Formats: sequence, structure tokens, C-alpha cells
Amino acid sequence: MMRLKMWHAPAAVLIATGIVLSGCKSPSNSASQSTGNDIIVGEYGSLTGPQATFGKSTDNAIQLAVEQLNSAGGINGRKVKVVTQDDMSQANNAALAVQNLIDQQHAIAVLGEVASSCSEAGGRVCQEKGIPMISPSSTNPAVTQIGDDIFRVCFIDPFQAAVVARFAHDGLGATRVAVFTNTDQDYSTGFTKNFIAAFTAMGGTIVIQKSYGGSDTDFRGSLTAIAQAKPQAILIPGYYQDVASIAKQARALGITCPLLGGDGWDSPDLIKIGGAALNNCYFSDHLAIDDPTPAVAKFVAAYKAKYGQTPDSLAALGYDSANLLFAAMKAAKSLTPSDIRDAIAATKNFPGITGNITINAQRNADKPAVIIKIVNGQFTKYMSIANPDVPLQPKAS
Ligand code: PHE
Repeated sequence: MMRLKMWHAPAAVLIATGIVLSGCKSPSNSASQSTGNDIIVGEYGSLTGPQATFGKSTDNAIQLAVEQLNSAGGINGRKVKVVTQDDMSQANNAALAVQNLIDQQHAIAVLGEVASSCSEAGGRVCQEKGIPMISPSSTNPAVTQIGDDIFRVCFIDPFQAAVVARFAHDGLGATRVAVFTNTDQDYSTGFTKNFIAAFTAMGGTIVIQKSYGGSDTDFRGSLTAIAQAKPQAILIPGYYQDVASIAKQARALGITCPLLGGDGWDSPDLIKIGGAALNNCYFSDHLAIDDPTPAVAKFVAAYKAKYGQTPDSLAALGYDSANLLFAAMKAAKSLTPSDIRDAIAATKNFPGITGNITINAQRNADKPAVIIKIVNGQFTKYMSIANPDVPLQPKAS
């Protein structure tokens, strides 16, 4: 076991009670054949809470990547140990988790988070302490704007939201769209802003804008107002749990138009909770897992063999973030955090599951997005969009 799990003891609890891991003197060493010479990588994620499927998928894939690395000889002969902290899907816990990973666990690099608000909180700690961090899947631009230690292996929301705007406008032929935003999530507010800018620049109209907060569960008041504005589609740039409830309540109110969203919809729980309410809806994502390319198929087979389930795009991005970090560690002049950072920054054409990854000057990765259509409860690839500035050929929905 090259890995230490602390899901039962989130950072906030550990710190609040003073039961920090330094007090247990290297529990990881006693639980493994560690030589004490392991390279410690920290991981923080939403293993519990409303975004739990994000954290679990990401963690599964990082675990797979580490196993493969260590069985192939590690980093120049040294094994990597990933220490994982649950932040319970909360930004304040994310900051505490990262502090713990760096100060108590002595992580020399950090992987995480998925949700942008959590990555911003954790990223500020990494930057302050000079430890490189790679977010697998946070798309809000503010994450990597924190500073030169913070990277991501995915595209950002000005691109993703423009892709959805292009699809709404050209692909669905919609000119009147409503927007329903979670104002407690930077991902949702950022996506909203970018979508509106792109959609109105194409000549579209936002017929109504409504918002909700993180703990809301009854959306009927806002949905009634949205129905009265007669949109041709509704953008809901939130996370799967909210989106599923909103979709069910919208259908119950007689709203039949397509619902649109972004990568935050990507969870098996979207359909488990929302069921048929999501049929014929669309969202942008990082890859289609049924993509027939050999790299994707090989990853899907390895993930299925280990976990007995099909990976989602979070898993693919988690896998890419870990492998890109390991490649940078192998290439780095030394394993000091600043040399690792420089090696990550120099990454060009890294062959990821989610495409070739070049870290650009803003420490982001430019890659095409896919539009996923939900057909009979299944996520199916509808089209790929590399440049939202280019009009699409109209396609029947
Ligand atoms: N992009 C989302 C965010 O920044 C997180 C996410 C990525 C969710 C990929 C699902 C799939 O918050």
C-alpha cells in the first residue's frame, strides 16, 4: 500500500481537534513497505459532500496512476506515495487540507481540486508555500491566476462557456436562452458571465437570469418565472446534484425545452437523481469516454478492471494530472518544489487521455471540448468543438 487514506478524518476535524498526523509519526510507513525514501504527493478532493462523485473518480484515477508508476520503477527508482485529504466539498476545508498536506505530510507537490472554489482556496495556500499544484479539472480562470505555482490540465470556462453558447446558437438554433446560476460557486458565476458574453455577441438574447444558493432545494419559484419568459433553452451551469433536482422540478412545472450545462454535469448521479428529466439535454465536457482512440480505450479497460465501473471525465483528468506531474518529476533538474514547478511549466505535448497537453503561458491547457447529449439516460458524444468563434453547421437536435 503506497497510499494513505484519511477520508474519515477531514482536515478541518484533524486540525480542530489537534489530531494532526505528525502526532501519529508516519502512519503511512507502518502501513506499507515504505523505505522512508518515498516521494510524497498530496491530494485534496471532495470525497464526501455534494460533489463527492468528483472527488472519488479523481482519486480512483490518481491511485491507478500511482500504482502503475510504482510498479514500473517510480521516479528514477523512488516510489511515490499519495496522501489524500477529504475537504468535504467545502472551500474552507480545502485550504486546511492543503496546509496539512504541506506542513504535516511534507508533500512536495499537490494534486487537486475539481470544484473551482476549492482549487482557489487550496491554490492560495500552495502558492504562499511555494509548492506546485496541478488541478485536474477546475475551469475557472482565477485558479491559475493565483500565481506561478498553480497549473491545470484542462481548458478554462471562457472557452467552455463559449462552446456551449456556440452550440446553443448554431446547433440548437436558439436565440432566446434563460440562465439559472448557483451564486455560491465560482464555477457557476464565471461560466454564466462567459456564456452571456459569448451568446449575446452572436446575437442571442438572455430572456431571464435567476440564481440560487448552495443549500437551496426548492427551485420552483425561479423556474416559474423562467417558464414565463419562454426561453428556447435554459443554461444551468451548476454541479450535478443541483442540476438533477432543478431538471426534475422544471419538468414537473411543464418546462419541456432542452437544458444546457457544462462539465459540472458529469456524474453518474446526474441520471440517478434526475432520471428522464435530463433526456435530450446537452452539456460540454472534456472527453467522451466512449471515444474509440486507443489511449482512451486502454485507460477505460485498466480503470474498469480495478474498480468495476466506467470512468468519467473527472477520472480521465485526474489520471492525466498525476501522470503529467510524474513526467515532470522525472524531467526536473532535482526534486525541489521549484524545479518540479519549472518542469511542469515546460510541459509540451504530453500524451494525455484527454488529448495532448501543452502547458501554456497562463499555466492552462488548450484542448477541444465535446458536447454530450443525454439520450435515454446515456451520455453520448454529439460533437466536438475546437474553436467556438467558428460557426457550426446546423444540426438537428
Ligand atoms: N470545471 C468544474 C469546476 O471548475 C469542475 C468539473 C470538471 C466538474 C469536470 C465536472 C467535470 O468547478
